[in-house]
Amino acid sequence: MPKKIRLGIIGGGGDSLIGVLHRVASFINDNYEIVGAVFNPDYEQNLAFAKEIDVPTNRIYTDFDTLVEEELKLPEDERIQVCSVLTPNFLHYPMAKKLLENGFHVICEKPMTMNYEEAKTLQEVHQKSGKVFALTHTYTGYPMVRQMREMIKNGELGRIHKVDARYYQGWINTVIHDKEKRSTVWRLDPTKAGISSCIGDIGVHASNLIEYTTGLQIKSVLCDFNYLYDDNQMDVDGTVLIRMDKHVKGVVRASQVATGEENGLAIAIYGEKAAFRWEQEKPNFLYKMSDTEPLQVYKPGHAYNTELSLNASKIPAGHPEGIFDSMANIYLGAARAIRGEDYNDGEFPTMRDGVRGMNFIESTVASHKQGNIWVDLD
Ligand SMILES: NC(=O)c1ccc[n+]([C@@H]2O[C@H](COP(=O)([O-])OP(=O)(O)OC[C@H]3O[C@@H](n4cnc5c(N)ncnc54)[C@H](O)[C@@H]3O)[C@@H](O)[C@H]2O)c1
Repeated sequence: MPKKIRLGIIGGGGDSLIGVLHRVASFINDNYEIVGAVFNPDYEQNLAFAKEIDVPTNRIYTDFDTLVEEELKLPEDERIQVCSVLTPNFLHYPMAKKLLENGFHVICEKPMTMNYEEAKTLQEVHQKSGKVFALTHTYTGYPMVRQMREMIKNGELGRIHKVDARYYQGWINTVIHDKEKRSTVWRLDPTKAGISSCIGDIGVHASNLIEYTTGLQIKSVLCDFNYLYDDNQMDVDGTVLIRMDKHVKGVVRASQVATGEENGLAIAIYGEKAAFRWEQEKPNFLYKMSDTEPLQVYKPGHAYNTELSLNASKIPAGHPEGIFDSMANIYLGAARAIRGEDYNDGEFPTMRDGVRGMNFIESTVASHKQGNIWVDLD
């Protein structure tokens, strides 16, 4: 086993939603060791959290710029090799850019940047850097999502006719109806979240899942948002008609006000020979449907699965693995890339996915704002 990769974490403090997922994911396959961090902007809180989770405090820094500055003073074989950026959206771009420019690999949360322009600049910086950049579209780490990708690539659905991906949540119901409460949520603040709440936060997972599984690109979108209140600037619900290459059409449906829904991400892909249906809340069941044969159910960890899918399972079939494992699979792929080992391009989403995602988000907003018209992606 090669030495562990030295990981730094920015954001993802004890008060955060996503921090624990990344910490556990980095630990699962024994590839990483957290050696430095700025978990919170408040230094005392930052330090207290590091003590709580037993990360050595000598490399817990006051802020991001100090982390970069101090780490660069260390010998290369002690320095942080890769940093995970787990802050609210507006900090992804400046932090990822500075990290790449200073020779660090980056694992970054989605949406990658605040807008498409930043995404394209970051792509240039990344190309010059020669470093690894992994974007944590977590759901691509599920074995059955990887199975769909490989089977579609092998032509098992035939020509694709239609795709339907939805991501329904209901959590914003608890804040959206009260103007005071609404102002406390960064996801509803365009200066922190970017130009979109619902599509930017979760619709982009659905669009990414479509492109990841089908290997096709979304070419144009027609979008209708709901803001629910005239004085709310951010979409909390959106329906997007999509046109892809090769005459494939479909829909991306996303909502944060779908009452009672939790993390209802689901995808259906209908092809000439067969179709797939998969739901995030029951990730270990992949349904293959056809007009001529009985329904088939694929499950993780069986020899009939593809290598990419089997590499995403760690324990014998029938032991449920879930969202932590899915994120861990992305960390595993990134570790292989950082170590210069061979890896399958389905093992982790990249800069390309980030640029596509920002192009999608910005096009949906343009479509809605211009009166629900078709808008082409690049
Ligand atoms: N991949 C996924 O499925 C998924 C799920 C949830 C969130 N996310 C993404 O993860 C990011 C964080 O989301 P969250 O829900 O955890 O947010 P959060 O508000 O719960 O947590 C943000 C964390 O960042 C810290 N932070 C803020 N500013 C900082 C700074 N300047 N320096 C260091 N730390 C700072 C905060 O103290 C907090 O610990 C967002 O971009 C979000 O879109 C992705």
